[in-house]
Amino acid sequence: MLPKRRRARVGSPGGAAASSALPPTLFPGVSVYLVEPRMGRSRRAFLTRLARSKGFRVLDACSSEVTHVVMERTSAEEAICWQERNGETAPPGYTPPALLDISWLTESLAAGQPVPVECRHRLEVAEPRKGPPSPAWMPPYACQRPTSLTHHNTSLSEALEMLAEAAGFEGSESRLLAFCRAASVLKALPRPVTALSQLQGLPHFGEHSFRVVQELLEHGVCEEVERVRCSERYRTMKLFTQIFGVGVRTADRWYREGLRTLDDLQERPQKLTQQQKAGLQHHQDLSTPVQRADVEALQQLVEAAVGQALPGATVTLTGGFRRGKLQGHDVDFLITHPDEGQEAGLLPRLMSCLQDQGLILYHQHHHSRCDAPSPPTRQSRTMDNFERSFCIFRLPQPSGAAAGGALSPCPAWKAVRVDLVVAPISQFPFALLGWTGSMLFQRELRRFSRKEKGWLLNSHGLFDPEQKVFFHVASEEDIFRHLGLEYLPPEQRNA
Ligand code: UTP
Ligand code: MN
Repeated sequence: MLPKRRRARVGSPGGAAASSALPPTLFPGVSVYLVEPRMGRSRRAFLTRLARSKGFRVLDACSSEVTHVVMERTSAEEAICWQERNGETAPPGYTPPALLDISWLTESLAAGQPVPVECRHRLEVAEPRKGPPSPAWMPPYACQRPTSLTHHNTSLSEALEMLAEAAGFEGSESRLLAFCRAASVLKALPRPVTALSQLQGLPHFGEHSFRVVQELLEHGVCEEVERVRCSERYRTMKLFTQIFGVGVRTADRWYREGLRTLDDLQERPQKLTQQQKAGLQHHQDLSTPVQRADVEALQQLVEAAVGQALPGATVTLTGGFRRGKLQGHDVDFLITHPDEGQEAGLLPRLMSCLQDQGLILYHQHHHSRCDAPSPPTRQSRTMDNFERSFCIFRLPQPSGAAAGGALSPCPAWKAVRVDLVVAPISQFPFALLGWTGSMLFQRELRRFSRKEKGWLLNSHGLFDPEQKVFFHVASEEDIFRHLGLEYLPPEQRNA
């Protein structure tokens, strides 16, 4: 169940009762209106509650009573456009309100009363920006903007993503997310960043990410990025977490025990799970990127086996390859059947079929943990309950292909990591959306759903905790539509 605190956010900014019974105002002559788009719904609701609690009159709708319009991260040009759009419906004799930057509100809240409006607060008199063109308007959630695979700021985003990865190795989820979000903003920009002024007003650009970009623009390298990249800690954690079956916690424990190399691990087989042993055994192949041709060959093999195990069942490529990536660390397939329930028992039959053909080097079966979708919780944000098999395939190679599956100079096969996931057709669109990624895109979609709609989204469904109902959908497009988001095809979800 959703905590009370979050339920209160759903609805108008101050809760349903707020607009009908505004608390007494201490400052007659001051009526504030907060403009939502750049501020975001949840922050607007928070600021509204805070200002009202301090005796400010904050209106939910923009009317002729409004004296102070407050905007966040908005340029003068945008503010004037907004005013012109709103002015069209204004009654005769109407005095337009002051267009103010958020700094006026935060200073007033700190002072406990409205501070006098100064020039620096006013958006409508701000000097038009000089120098390079101002950045395109950037919505704050990654799921609100298309992000293609190739973009204009690769070296900057890679530097930030490396710092994100390193923060993840230290267990700092919040720093990981902050760097990932900043990197993702750079990926969505329409042109290369060449001057710091282009970062002005962009969402998720904290002081740290800003400094990294500044160093890269000014010196071509960032001291911190290079230091982390070369550090023993980062290199070892990267080496260990790339092994199949090894997460950050295991890698960290091994590091603290003094282990540094794959040989160190091979010498201590008693420390390893079966999955990790398989990962180490095929490490050379598994650390070589999977190519498109491998994906196509695998899809044919899996489709043929699925056809034998359950006629009518379908196989859909998901993960990075569905987003258009040319290389990947694994291949993700989602399997379903058009008749709900028919998919039960399919995976064990499929696995025997693949094993009989000598295609499986290792597999680990995970049973479905529930039949019906349950309301998503914070814990189920990234995990799902579908029946699945984490496999290492023995993929036959066309003669002459260069890979390291065996010691011979021209190997006959290559080890490839494959995830096979089975979903009932009623949950298929959610499973497809979730497994297509990218990881950040999905996190942002779930955060948007929670914060802006008050709904809980995961790979099983979309749940409204107020009404206690699941939404029924037939496609990914339906999910975007329910959330009020423009549909983004998989190739535009490379956030
Ligand atoms: P991957 O880890 O396979 O990433 O997860 P990827 O984008 O395909 O990139 P590669 O493989 O590194 O090249 C794909 C998507 O599946 C979701 C992840 O959230 C990601 O969005 N996923 C993964 C789950 O929903 N559950 C899992 O247990 C694993
Ligand atoms: Mn993948």
